[in-house]
Amino acid sequence: MDVIRNTEALRQRLHRVHNRGDRLAFVPTMGNLHAGHAQLVRHARSIAPVVVASIFVNPLQFGDGEDYASYPSTLEADRELLDDLDTDVLFLPGVEDIYPGGSEHTATVVVPGLNAILEGEHRPTHFDGVSTVVAKLFGLVQPDIAVFGEKDYQQLLLIRQMVADLCMPVDIEAVATVREADGLAMSSRNSYLGANERAVAAQLYQTLLDVKMLVESGEADYTGVAAAARQQLEEAGFVADYVSIRRAADLAVPAPGERVLRALAAARLGTTRLIDNIEISIS
Ligand code: PAF
Repeated sequence: MDVIRNTEALRQRLHRVHNRGDRLAFVPTMGNLHAGHAQLVRHARSIAPVVVASIFVNPLQFGDGEDYASYPSTLEADRELLDDLDTDVLFLPGVEDIYPGGSEHTATVVVPGLNAILEGEHRPTHFDGVSTVVAKLFGLVQPDIAVFGEKDYQQLLLIRQMVADLCMPVDIEAVATVREADGLAMSSRNSYLGANERAVAAQLYQTLLDVKMLVESGEADYTGVAAAARQQLEEAGFVADYVSIRRAADLAVPAPGERVLRALAAARLGTTRLIDNIEISIS
């Protein structure tokens, strides 16, 4: 695996790949890799002869008071994992490579609508930071395919929308959420949980499973189901930001008769904010 730390070296390394016309699959990450990321890379490996992964902790997607400065970094272990997974190139840019004029003075990419609901309501600048950095990384790597996890379902839809709106020639592929044995979705932020918090963290997924079961068995009062789920989380010790049942395709509030839905939730345990989501399919 080649480890490349600046944009010029990346251009040189990928020039041959693009000239040969080899399909390139890209997995952007912020590092601190876990089994969920490994699944993204395995998927990329299974669909393209060239796999590029990036590790870049993007300042633009963290709000004031969030964990940008303390975001967990495990570079040596990440490198080993990516090498074991047969990644061709690991791109490790610095902030100056991605934001040559500084992250406060940069052209930005905004995906209206999806950037402002659910996660966007609670983290108002987050998605503009995500779409901006992913657009820049796509410009540098020029992938044919990019792989994202369903764990960040709203992010996945937002990137799909960006690619469609800006006519970017990139196919976006989704990989199912990887979970711990008790159902907790894998996330770099799980390492922030204390032992007692970790013991209740899987309640988030259990609550979403209850929502799925109720709706799939015919309950049509989605607002009531979401309110009960929120209360269930609060009783387990979470402070919930939201629980919501939305149309899976675009996260709009579902119209009656809509069959493919997604339940999404965000909740805090102490200072750790967890998000999760689940598919709901009404037959
Ligand atoms: O999902 C992530 O890890 C990040 O939001 C991403 C897509 C790498 C952009 O910084």
